[in-house]
Amino acid sequence: MNNIKIIATANFGLEAVLKRELINMGYENLEVSDGRVSLIGNLTDVAKLNLRLRTAERVLIELGTFEAYTFEELFDNTYKISWENIISEKGNFLVQGRSAKSKLYSISDCQRIVEKAIIKKLQTKYDIYRFEKSEERYKIEVSVFKDIASITLDTSGDGLHKRGYREVSYKAPISETIAAAMVMLSYWKEDRILCDPFCGSGTIPIEAAMIGKNIAPGISRHFDSEKFIFMDEKIYKEERAKCYSEIDYDKKLQIFATDISYKAIEVAKNNAEILGLDEDIKFFVKDIRELDLPDDYGVIITNPPYGVRIGGDEVKELEEELGKLYKTIPTWSLYAISSDEQFEKNFGKKSDRNRKLYNGKIKTYYYQYYGPRPK
Ligand SMILES: C[S@@+](CC[C@H](N)C(=O)[O-])C[C@H]1O[C@@H](n2cnc3c(N)ncnc32)[C@H](O)[C@@H]1O
Repeated sequence: MNNIKIIATANFGLEAVLKRELINMGYENLEVSDGRVSLIGNLTDVAKLNLRLRTAERVLIELGTFEAYTFEELFDNTYKISWENIISEKGNFLVQGRSAKSKLYSISDCQRIVEKAIIKKLQTKYDIYRFEKSEERYKIEVSVFKDIASITLDTSGDGLHKRGYREVSYKAPISETIAAAMVMLSYWKEDRILCDPFCGSGTIPIEAAMIGKNIAPGISRHFDSEKFIFMDEKIYKEERAKCYSEIDYDKKLQIFATDISYKAIEVAKNNAEILGLDEDIKFFVKDIRELDLPDDYGVIITNPPYGVRIGGDEVKELEEELGKLYKTIPTWSLYAISSDEQFEKNFGKKSDRNRKLYNGKIKTYYYQYYGPRPK
C-alpha cells in the first residue's frame, strides 16, 4: 500500500502543534483542517506516526472519498473499495458514523448502508456467515460532510493518548496528548528546570521527561494496525526498534513534580516507574503555599484545579497562590491550562499569550507567561 492518504486527528486547538511535529519528522505537503492534519504516505509512515506522534489522537487511513447524495451512491462507492484485501475472514469490524450539512443526515442509516456494502463485498471472498469475532479489530468511520462521504480506517485502535503508563490516575487527570502539547508549546528545554506544582497523576512531568529523553510516546503499547492483514509484521518491529535505539538514556533532567496529596504523588511515582523515569522526576508532597523555588530560569507547566472538574472556592485561592509564587521567581516562565476565564485576574497578571485548547469537550485556555531568556 503506497500513496495512502493518512489523516492524523487531534483535539481542537492542537492542529498547529501537530503540524509542527510532522514537519519536524520530515513530512511535507500537509493539509490542515479542523482537528486533523493529512499527508500522503505508506504503511511504514502509519507505524511511524502511531509510535511517535505526541499530540495526535488517532492515525486514520482514508479508503475512499466520493459524493453521496443518495444511499445508492453511498452503497455503490463503499462496495467499490477492496474490502476483501483489507478485512480478514476473522476480522472484527465496527462502523461508526458522522454527518453534517448533508442530504444523508441519518447517521445510523449511513452506518447500516456502509456495513451492508462491506459485508456484500466480503462475501465475494469469504463465507461471511461463519464470520467470528476475534481480537483483530477494524474500526471504520463513514463521515459525510456537505454531501461528500469519506470512509476511513482507524489504524490506532485505542486513542493515542493511551500511552500505556497511566495505569492509575488521580482525580481530574489531563489528557496525555494535551500535556505533551503544553510542553511542546512552551520554551522549556531539557537543560532547564521544570516544575509542576499541581502534578496529580504526573502527566505533565512524565510527558516532559519522555520528550527530554526522546522516548516515543507509543513505544510501550500496541495498535490495531499491527494485526491488519495487509500490514507486514516487520514494519512495526523495525520502527519500534528504531524508537528504542533513539532513546537518550544518559540525558539528565531536572523535573520536579509536587502536589498536596500523598495519594497523587504515590500514583504519579508509580506511573513514572512504569516508564523507568522515576530517577528523572523528583516527586514531593507539598502544598503550593509552602513551595520554594530557586530563581534560576526554570519553567512551570501546570494544570491547577479548576471549576468544571474539581470545583469549589479553592480554585480562586489557588490561582492567587500560584501568582504569589510566580512573583518570587522573576526569571521563570509559567504556563497554566485552565477553563477558568478569571484565571489572569486571580493570578494577578495578564498573560503574554493565551491559546484556546479543548481538553475533551471542555474549553480551556493555555495561559503563557514568558520569563527572560536564560543567560
Ligand atoms: C487538575 S489536577 C492536576 C491533574 C494532573 N495534571 C494530572 O494529569 O493528573 C489538580 C491537582 O492539584 C492538587 N492540589 C489541590 N490543592 C493543592 C495545593 N494547595 N497545593 C498543591 N496541590 C494542590 C490536587 O491534589 C490535584 O492533584
